[in-house]
This record gives sequence, C-alpha cells and structure tokens, in this order.
Amino acid sequence: MASSVFLVIYLSLGALFLQQIAQAFYNVFFSPLRKIPGPWYASITGIPKLYNAIIRRKQSRWSHDMHKKYGQYVRVAPDEVLIDDVVAFREVHRMGTHFLKTKIYKFLNPTPPGQPPYGLFQETDPVRHSNVRRMVSRGFSLGYLRTNWEGTVHERVKAVVEGMKKEAVSNHGEVDIYKWWPLMAGDVISTLMFGECPHAVEQGLDDELIAGYKLNDAGNGFAYSFPYIYHILKWLPIPSLKRAWAGNPVLIERGKRAVENSREVSQKANIFATVLAEAERDDPTLSDFEIALNAGVLVFAGTDTTATSLTYLVWAVLSNPSLMQDLENEVAQLQPPYTDEKLESLPVLNAVIKETLRLYGAAPAPLPRYVPREGAVLGGYYFPAGTTVATQAWTLHRNPKVFENPEVFDHKRWLGGLASREEVKASWAPYGAGSRICIGMHLADMELRMATAAFFREFRGAKLAASTTPESMEVDNTFLIEPHGHACRVVLPTK
Ligand code: HEM
Repeated sequence: MASSVFLVIYLSLGALFLQQIAQAFYNVFFSPLRKIPGPWYASITGIPKLYNAIIRRKQSRWSHDMHKKYGQYVRVAPDEVLIDDVVAFREVHRMGTHFLKTKIYKFLNPTPPGQPPYGLFQETDPVRHSNVRRMVSRGFSLGYLRTNWEGTVHERVKAVVEGMKKEAVSNHGEVDIYKWWPLMAGDVISTLMFGECPHAVEQGLDDELIAGYKLNDAGNGFAYSFPYIYHILKWLPIPSLKRAWAGNPVLIERGKRAVENSREVSQKANIFATVLAEAERDDPTLSDFEIALNAGVLVFAGTDTTATSLTYLVWAVLSNPSLMQDLENEVAQLQPPYTDEKLESLPVLNAVIKETLRLYGAAPAPLPRYVPREGAVLGGYYFPAGTTVATQAWTLHRNPKVFENPEVFDHKRWLGGLASREEVKASWAPYGAGSRICIGMHLADMELRMATAAFFREFRGAKLAASTTPESMEVDNTFLIEPHGHACRVVLPTK
C-alpha cells in the first residue's frame, strides 16, 4: 500500500518536472515573445524581477535600467514584457481597453489571499469595476470635493502644522515629516470615508486600520508571488503568519461606521451618503459589505500615496534654497482665508507639485495588464493572449526627449507651456491613465496644494536635518515609493 502511494507521488513529481522542462523549452525556443529583447534568463524565470522588486525594493529603478539596456520593449519574465512606448501606453490603458488588470491586484485586497469580493482598486472584472467606479466617482470630482470637503482638508492641514510646531519646540526644532504627513492624509481620507475623523494627527500615531492593512498587504503580496510556499506555510500554526493572511481585522468593525454614516444626513454623513443619495433609481447599488470594503481600500490608497509625495516635495524644495525662497514669497502673499481655487493659480506652487509628481509620484511602478483573448500587436511585436504587459510612469517621466535633463528636479520646466505640449500629455501619468486612473487624484492634488502652502507659510527658513541626505532619501519601491531611510527629518524655526 505504502509503496503504491510513493509510486504515485514519484510519478506526479516526475510529471510536474517534465511539464516544467517542456514549458521552459517552449518559452525559450517557440514563444512569440522570444523575439523581444531582454536578459538571457527572462525566457526561463521571472525571479530576478521579483528579487529586485520585493527584496531589493528597487522595482522602478531596475525596470528603468532594463529599458536603458534593452530598449522600449523588454521581456523580463517568460510571460511578461515591460513597455516604454507612448502609443502602446495609450492602447493598453485607454477607456474601454481590453487589457485588464492582472490577478496580482486581487491579492492586494483586504480579504484573505485571492478571496472576493474585491475593492475598486483590486477588481479586475471590467463590468463590476465600472459599476462601482461610476458610483464612487460622484464623490471625488473636484467641484464636489471643494464644496463639501475643502473645510476638512483645511482643518486637518492646520492640525498637522500645529502638531509639527509642538514637536519642534520640544525637540530642538527637529521633526520627521515622513511621520506627520501620513497622519494628516489618513485623517482626511478617513473622514471622507467614515464620516468620523480618527484624529491620528492629535494622537501622533498611524491609525490602526492602516497598520493592519500594511500587514495584510505584505502577506497577500507574498501569497501571490510565492503561491507554492504560501500553500505550505498557511497550514503551519504560527500566529504571525496566520495574522498576515487573515485579511484586515479592523476593516469590518470600522466598516460598520462607514455603512451607518452613509445613511446619515447630518454632519456625520460620509462620501457614500452622497454616492447613495445621488444614485439613479435603476443604478446597481453598493451592498453594505462593498461600502465597508471600499471605505478601507480608499483609506489605504489615499494615505501613504499623498503623504510620500508631500514628503519628497518638501525635501526637494528644502534642498534648493532659491526655489525655497520663491515658494515662500509666493505663499506669504496669500490673504487668509484662502481657497483651494486660489492656490491653483499660484505658478511656483503648482510647478513644484507637477515636478514632484514627475519624479516622486507615489506609484511610478509597472502597472501590469493581461493581453486580451484575441492577442495584440504592439510596437511591431505579436503578444499572445494572457501575456502580462506593463508600462511605468517612472520611465515615461524620465524620457530625455520629452523632459530635458530628466533626473534633475527643475520646477521651472513647468513655468512655460510644457504641460500643454502633446508629447508631455501623452507621457504624463503620475495617476495612471484611462479607465483605471486614480479616483483620488483631485483629492491628492488639493491636499498637496493646501499642505504645501501652509507648510511654507508657517515654517519660513526650515532646513533639512543633518540625518536627511540624498542617500537616506533615495527612492525604494515595491509598487509604492518610500525613502530608503524611512524618515525625512527637517529643522523648523521655533521662535
Ligand atoms: C499623490 C497621490 C497619489 C498617487 C501618485 C496615486 C497614484 C495612483 C495610480 C498610479 C493609480 C493607478 C494604478 C493602476 O492602474 O494599477 C491609482 C489608482 C487608484 N488610486 Fe491613487 N494615487 C494617489 C492618491 C490617491 C488618493 C488620495 C486616493 C483616495 C481617494 C486614491 C485612490 C485610488 C484608487 C481607489 C485607485 C484605483 C482606481 C480604479 O482602479 O478604478 N489614490 N492611484
């Protein structure tokens, strides 16, 4: 009996091994992707790509180096190609595209690995996605945000400036802005989503929803990248592993508040109250669970993104004394109470934001999409159905033919008519593009404007602390960026 069990196991392992060899043989000698340039190992394995993204945390830089070495189309794994071509970029991401998000997005859900239902960011089915997107986007237009939530953003920006001031007084002027900005951005988006502010700024601590999400995200990302290892490890009775794959524990509890407040008409009404109130009678509606889930997803998507770009913005300005003076002078002339609309008219402020989003947009990594059922021809190459293709803003934003001296932070490039040039519009993508473009971009822009104006009005003469260096601020990234030193200390005037 035992010997026939072993025989079955040996035969299965042998069949698996042969299948892998045959697959590798096909990938190297027969796959249509063999014609695409790339490192020798790419036709056999994607492990170096994963290593550079997950272990070295240099996903965008490594992908950019691949383009520099091999050109616009680079095979980086047996079934994956990086693309740096604005024509293909438009085709892959346009409205109504048939190139859909790959299944890695499903693994970034706050539920246990690969378990539906999915949030707006994670949904890969185009019909389900567009139903939810149509409803939720009502709450994120610039006009709607200005009418209903500008006061909240103002108030949270004021609170974070006060928080920084207090800490500076007790700490020889030094504060870590990389700690403070997420507290502000988290408070803003939580208020919109839940109708209640967690006051993370006053507590000086990451909200527990976000802390739980970070663990969940890392666990699910691991499960996607190493499915075989995950399927073994998940059976082990190790509490930390169980926690990483249990989904976001705080989400459901907090989500109940989002659902209750979506039915409120008073001051506790959140963005979902508008979404539901304005839904056409025959629109498909959001279930309670979808409200809870999306509230959590949007809080996560709307916190570190805006906060990290804001951190890099302040760092870039403080690194350039003449720019700092220009910006300080411009915002010093504002007459309080000033509006977001007024801020949108300030040339230096807006040029600095654009340049920050060009070099330090929070999500510049390859955005993976599957080639549709019918296959596709891009850049003269044939791509079979199911191939993963990915474009990244990091590379599009560093094209020397579009942006002169692309690695230099130069806000002045935006002071002429650069933004309206066709080649710039074609490659400008800090918020992604097409049907999956960032739903929070107007909110992010508003926070960037208000927080930048308040910071440089309040802290004239701020400086970088000695511990903040080009090395500590080097960009690390696995999808989202962060400073290598996990901090950005600045010295604020305390008189
Ligand atoms: C500077 C700040 C931000 C940057 C650079 C950024 C960047 C991006 C990018 C590049 C995408 C496209 C991802 C893809 O196609 O795979 C995206 C999608 C998304 N972002 Fe943002 N984001 C920012 C702020 C926010 C904020 C404040 C929110 C919250 C409201 C948010 C919510 C989302 C959501 C829900 C999606 C998915 C949209 C969909 O698939 O329909 N983001 N973001």
